[in-house]
Amino acid sequence: MVLAVAVVTRRTVLGSGLAAAVGLGVGLPYALVPTGDSSTGRLLPSRIPRPTMFSVVLPVPAVLRPDRSDSDGDHYTITQRTAMAEIVPGYATPLWTYNGTFPGPSIESRAGRAALVRHINQLPVPTVVHLHGGHTPHESDGYPIDYNLPSDPTYYETHMSTSPHMSMRVGATSQGSRDYTYPLKQRAATLWYHDHRMEFTGPSVWRGLAGFHFVRDDEEDALRLPAGPYEIPLMLTDRSFGADGSLAYPSIDPTLVNIPGVTGGYTAGVLGDTMLVNGVPWPIATVDQASYRLRVLNASNARRLALRLDPAPPAGIVQIGTDGGLLASPVVHDHLVVAPAQRFDVIVDFSGYRPGTVVTLVNDFDSGPMGQVMQFRTSERAGPRFAIPDRLSTITPLVHDDATTTRSFRFRAGNAGPMDGWVIDSEPFDPATATATVPLGTVEIWQLFADLHHPVHLHLNPFQIIARGTDGPGEFDHGWKDTIDLKPAEQAAIAVRFEDYPGRYVFHCHNLEHEDMAMMANVDVR
Ligand code: C2O
Ligand code: CU
Ligand code: CU
Repeated sequence: MVLAVAVVTRRTVLGSGLAAAVGLGVGLPYALVPTGDSSTGRLLPSRIPRPTMFSVVLPVPAVLRPDRSDSDGDHYTITQRTAMAEIVPGYATPLWTYNGTFPGPSIESRAGRAALVRHINQLPVPTVVHLHGGHTPHESDGYPIDYNLPSDPTYYETHMSTSPHMSMRVGATSQGSRDYTYPLKQRAATLWYHDHRMEFTGPSVWRGLAGFHFVRDDEEDALRLPAGPYEIPLMLTDRSFGADGSLAYPSIDPTLVNIPGVTGGYTAGVLGDTMLVNGVPWPIATVDQASYRLRVLNASNARRLALRLDPAPPAGIVQIGTDGGLLASPVVHDHLVVAPAQRFDVIVDFSGYRPGTVVTLVNDFDSGPMGQVMQFRTSERAGPRFAIPDRLSTITPLVHDDATTTRSFRFRAGNAGPMDGWVIDSEPFDPATATATVPLGTVEIWQLFADLHHPVHLHLNPFQIIARGTDGPGEFDHGWKDTIDLKPAEQAAIAVRFEDYPGRYVFHCHNLEHEDMAMMANVDVR
């Protein structure tokens, strides 16, 4: 089968990705079609008219209240269920949700205090919950085959035991309900939870299974960052809609029960043509003459974003945190490149604008509607301004000399068993194989090579980016990361210490179509 893969860089493909990828000895079985932006993926056109931009007010996901709090921690219940939402005015869109909303409810935790989350599965398929960025014991990490089956007691027999493909790949299952324990012995950070089901993560997240989980701590509190209405989470996702207003996705099996994979060139990644922020298209928010803390998450399946404010805020976009929490010191940017799954914690001082200014959050990786994300309208109302300190936190570099092992992994197109897909080195994901075995407590250096765009994510521990090619880390690489934005033909090195929890964890590409089509591997920590 020959697939068309859209590779998009701002330069021509031959100028950057392909030529060098071939130079790496990577055989690309695909025809490469440049389409002009900067993501690896293919645009899925909607079949309904585009909604009016900047007319819907930005919603903020509700914060989930614990059922109870005791000496074990805070206990929550989330029901995974279908729900209808009016995302595009005039259309009803069926979703898969956590508690009926997309994004799901936000969870607020204190570092060191456990969150115990009971997930009830009322969806018609198995689910798996992963807390992305969580420092979590293996049993609760959402290993891709640790299914929480639907409560229908015949589900396994009807759908999985008869399929050799499925029944071979079943880990620790539960039925109808599953308890996840998050000790959260980690720094304050912007985490998010999402579905992680083997081979079906892309369509499940696309349908709405994603939410924020914030961890806070004393160090962050001491900074007195903008809070309450001055702290706004922004979950950015691209989506496409079918003629009836449902979410379009090119699944081979739209029931998502049996056959994984997507049709045609969407193996490269699914790019939507409608930008959603917190689940609504191109919203608008009114802001005070004040400093705001924006917690940006790119929860798109495959789309990379180059975010900029237009007009630019006089004080710039000041980054204070990243995937793994606070930076050592603030970094002033004029734009942010955000790969899928990455988070940027930034301060924007809107008091630098005249009241009434309309400020557009743009995406420089695209033109037209997808080149715009949302708008802020500045009001006359005064609010607190935040003086950004020079020092935010302490980040101790992981030293090369401590590293016991250096490994290298090649992320590239390849044969993923029954389907064309994506591999690490030459191997498609196999839950039964440990690609790396790491002694608990040790530091390792990993060299990562990419043929195309691959946002590579490692579970369990955050890492430090120590090099890109022959250079040091890039301008968006500061601090503790859990997802690195690898660009076509790029090579990068990360350092990571595997701490506290032994067991089998995954690392994978967070382009969710790549992940589903086998670009994942196991690291056994012992
Ligand atoms: Cu956000 Cu293994 O994923
Ligand atoms: Cu993760
Ligand atoms: Cu990838």
